Amino acid sequence: MSQAIGTHAPAPPVSLGDYERHAATLMSPMALAYVNGGAGDEITLSENRAAFDRLRLTSRVLRDMGGASTALRLLGVELDHPILLAPVAYHKLVHPEGEIATAQGAGAARAGLVVSTQASTRLEDIAAAATAPLFFQLYVQPDRDFTRDLIARARAAGYKALMVTVDAPASLRNREQRVGFRLPAGVSPVNLAGMAPRPAATGAVGQSPLFSGFLSGSATWADIAWLRELTDMPLVLKGILSPADAREALAHGVDGMVVSNHGGRVLDTLPSTIEALPRVAEAVGGAVPLLLDGGVRRGTDIVKAIALGASAVMIGRPYIHALCAAGAAGVAHAVHLLRAELEVAMALTGSARIEDIDATVLW
Ligand SMILES: Cc1cc2nc3c(=O)[nH]c(=O)nc-3n(C[C@H](O)[C@H](O)[C@H](O)COP(=O)(O)O)c2cc1C
Repeated sequence: MSQAIGTHAPAPPVSLGDYERHAATLMSPMALAYVNGGAGDEITLSENRAAFDRLRLTSRVLRDMGGASTALRLLGVELDHPILLAPVAYHKLVHPEGEIATAQGAGAARAGLVVSTQASTRLEDIAAAATAPLFFQLYVQPDRDFTRDLIARARAAGYKALMVTVDAPASLRNREQRVGFRLPAGVSPVNLAGMAPRPAATGAVGQSPLFSGFLSGSATWADIAWLRELTDMPLVLKGILSPADAREALAHGVDGMVVSNHGGRVLDTLPSTIEALPRVAEAVGGAVPLLLDGGVRRGTDIVKAIALGASAVMIGRPYIHALCAAGAAGVAHAVHLLRAELEVAMALTGSARIEDIDATVLW
């Protein structure tokens, strides 16, 4: 026997699924419910994965892979590979170094990082720790003056683009409700400190607290027009699934869109993102780059997304699992694993470069 009886050193993770299983043994019940949960019956959450798994690839043999590369240019930024880290709130929930460790890991893996409005670390401090490109995810706040100042801070700190999340004005997640999720002491949306609270619900009999209070300050298309006027940063809308919304976004002059259902966390029974992508791609007609997130766990998923019209993908939960398990090194390793899988999938589908990946790689 090579191992002494009684030692249980976990096998080193070789896939994002390994990190997910390991992280589940480390996270508090509250953090686990918050990170892994989805809306309603989690039908969209599981469909994000299942729809990728249903797609089959075609192998191509004997192609010349000379000069093969995963590099691309996206939103004016040169990237080594098409794997970005999606905006996720409150990294300190799973690791004491929070977003600083994430930024260091992203830098080591040369992965673009999208920092959430609800980050648990000041956006300037994250920028100081970052060596790979940063983008800022914006939730338009009910206080529009505060929103404007937040954008100015992100621009001054060197963030390369503004990714406005438009799909999450409200949500109900039963896993979080069951554990009574609340943020622990020391974890808060520090970049929103000092902002006036949301308008209170009226509480009048027969009135919905959601409709009368919470949603009254939510963003509309008029805010997208306002943002387009306000900033010269590339403007990307995150959370587009409908071709009609994609056309509306183009009419508002956006520079990109993310086909996303928020990782199955907002409206349950939405389609998977890989199923929605071709219709959005058809509506956009190549006018602006599309990103996709939701269920990306394997290099083959990335090839499928690019084949169906995406320029790049984002991962959410997987890098949070890796951050939980091993901090900055975990984040870097998770991206490295996914990138290595992407390279193998490109080689076996005969795609030497990202722009060579098209619908012919699908069976
Ligand atoms: C714990 C958690 C927090 C999130 N917080 C945000 C957020 O603050 N802003 C945002 O735009 N999206 C947020 N998202 C959605 C992610 O950006 C992304 O769309 C989703 O995680 C992708 O699906 P995946 O987790 O299957 O990769 C969050 C997702 C998770 C899992």
